[in-house]
Amino acid sequence: MDTIHCNKIRASHDGQTVRLQGWIDTVRDHGGILFIDLRDREGLTQIVFDPANETLAKEFTNLKPESVIAVSGKVLKRSDETINKDLDTGEVEVHAAELTIHNVSETPPFPMDETADKVNEDLRLTHRYLDLRRPSNLNVLRLRHRAAQSARSYFDENGFLEVETPMLFKSTPEGAREFLVPSRLNAGDFYALPQSPQQYKQMLMVAGVERYYQLAKCFRDEDLRADRQPEFTQIDIEVSFVDREGMYSLMEGLMKRIWKDVLDIDIPTPFPRMSFHDAMNQYGVDKPDTRFELKIQDFSETFKTSDFKVFSGTVANGGVVKAFNAKGLANITQGELKALEESAKALGAKGLAFIKSENGEWKSPILKFFSEEEKAALKKELEVEEGDIVFFAAAEWERACAILGRVRLEAAQLLVKRGTLTIPDDAYNFLWVIEFPLMLFDEEKGEFASAHHPFTSPVPEDINLLDSDPKAVRGQHYDMVLNGVELGGGSIRIHQTELQEKVFKDVLKIPADIVESRFGYMLKAFKYGAPPHGGIAFGFDRLVGILAKKQSIRDVIAFPKTQKGQDLMAAAPGEATDRQLRDLHVARMIKQDK
Ligand code: AMO
Ligand code: AMP
Repeated sequence: MDTIHCNKIRASHDGQTVRLQGWIDTVRDHGGILFIDLRDREGLTQIVFDPANETLAKEFTNLKPESVIAVSGKVLKRSDETINKDLDTGEVEVHAAELTIHNVSETPPFPMDETADKVNEDLRLTHRYLDLRRPSNLNVLRLRHRAAQSARSYFDENGFLEVETPMLFKSTPEGAREFLVPSRLNAGDFYALPQSPQQYKQMLMVAGVERYYQLAKCFRDEDLRADRQPEFTQIDIEVSFVDREGMYSLMEGLMKRIWKDVLDIDIPTPFPRMSFHDAMNQYGVDKPDTRFELKIQDFSETFKTSDFKVFSGTVANGGVVKAFNAKGLANITQGELKALEESAKALGAKGLAFIKSENGEWKSPILKFFSEEEKAALKKELEVEEGDIVFFAAAEWERACAILGRVRLEAAQLLVKRGTLTIPDDAYNFLWVIEFPLMLFDEEKGEFASAHHPFTSPVPEDINLLDSDPKAVRGQHYDMVLNGVELGGGSIRIHQTELQEKVFKDVLKIPADIVESRFGYMLKAFKYGAPPHGGIAFGFDRLVGILAKKQSIRDVIAFPKTQKGQDLMAAAPGEATDRQLRDLHVARMIKQDK
């Protein structure tokens, strides 16, 4: 007699003997007859214990929910009035004849159902094996598995090889702080855990692999948020002899396949494209959520000679005045307005000027400074109507964009709360954001930094600007954005030693000895026949988070870390002994007070 899954039993099994193994979900005593719902990964079946079978009934009464048992017994159809239509197995029950108790459970610290969603996350993470046992969480693991399988099939069918790359690597220039691992055999030296397999995958292209992918673990010692974990998974991809168009269509195909396999949804391709500049101008962010409008507009021209000196002065200093209409939000409360202002100030705003259109008139502390023409321009361009509120930012271009980008998102949430705006969670607005600048100028440090990473190739026609005007050089970089989330980013790479060396030394001003020690092998490899190549990496946890409609990527990772980077279940990180440190040639600098 084979064991079958609890969800598999149907009326057609009537009269057969089956063996089920799983967890006791619930126990009910109906006047001496005991009913239990037995649960396994796939579902539930009702088991009946006849009190006439005294030994069984007695053994059974010792059992608490979440104990693990095996039961054999006969499948019988339920009488019509006891059929449970909510359950796949609701037409039948199993009448227990034999019981094996594998493991008796203590009372779990929280219930094994949806109500535990409200339980403190730390308690759930401490008992993550129980949290995961809840059907909704097991389903997330299943969905994650299906997404990975779907991607793997797509890659396999398109000629990609999955290649594993090392976890013990050295510092990489992806911009985040790294995890270091002391080397016992090389006293004083350290490995770094890879922020991504970027350099290795490029070396695989030089090696002739042509098409590479990997579900790669990456490590970044960043401050954590809902969409960031210190270790996370990328779908990492690199392709030889490809241009940007080739990458767009390959990756659109990948998304199409995953959405079809996992959600049975046909997503339209090709995806729309938006330049970085337009994204910043209209949405105030390089990962626009285009599921709703509330677009930002430029009013620098309108206000350049305004009596409101905050605006005209900003324009005179080379800045911009931007505004957007938060449609229907004139009923914003003082508290909400204050919170928006705080968010704006956190991004460096000096204030958050606004105009409300309420009770047939415009209201604002700054209205007195505005001329009739200025008001008319606002009304026309922003289509201001009764009940609207317009927010302004006057600052340097990037800052003004970013401020209103944040205010736009927060205002949208306030509108959602009021029911005046719907942001559908089953709309999938994929978007390519393209034409990023190759370099960003860090005003404080007075130096250039790569907008993405230093391996990104400039747009060919801009290469001659690298010396004269690095700011104006566009990179062959692209981001895939979905509903306001940066799902992935990549680029066509530099594959020539001279150009790569120029970017390192002349533009990024990295000293020659450091270039040599960190990237010498790449510069050398490019001298031995490097094919043109490009790639991308997707945040797999973010992707699964969206597929599973979860707010935090912690909910789609089997064993996630907390905001403090801890694994509460295993209590990691933990202490190292003096002996371990000695072997690793590491001195204890900070005395632990534990
Ligand atoms: P990038 O640094 O943009 O590119 O990373 C690619 C994608 O990885 C995801 N991601 C993260 N997900 C969870 N937690 C994190 N801490 C985290 N950091 C990044 C994001 C992001 O879009 N080597 C390049 C790719 C390339 O050029 O091919 C790279 O790593 O979804
Ligand atoms: P002030 O004249 O500085 O008192 O500012 C008048 C209004 O404009 C206040 O509501 C400020 O919050 C707002 N404000 C000030 N500076 C800016 C700015 N750079 N951008 C947008 N609003 C601003």
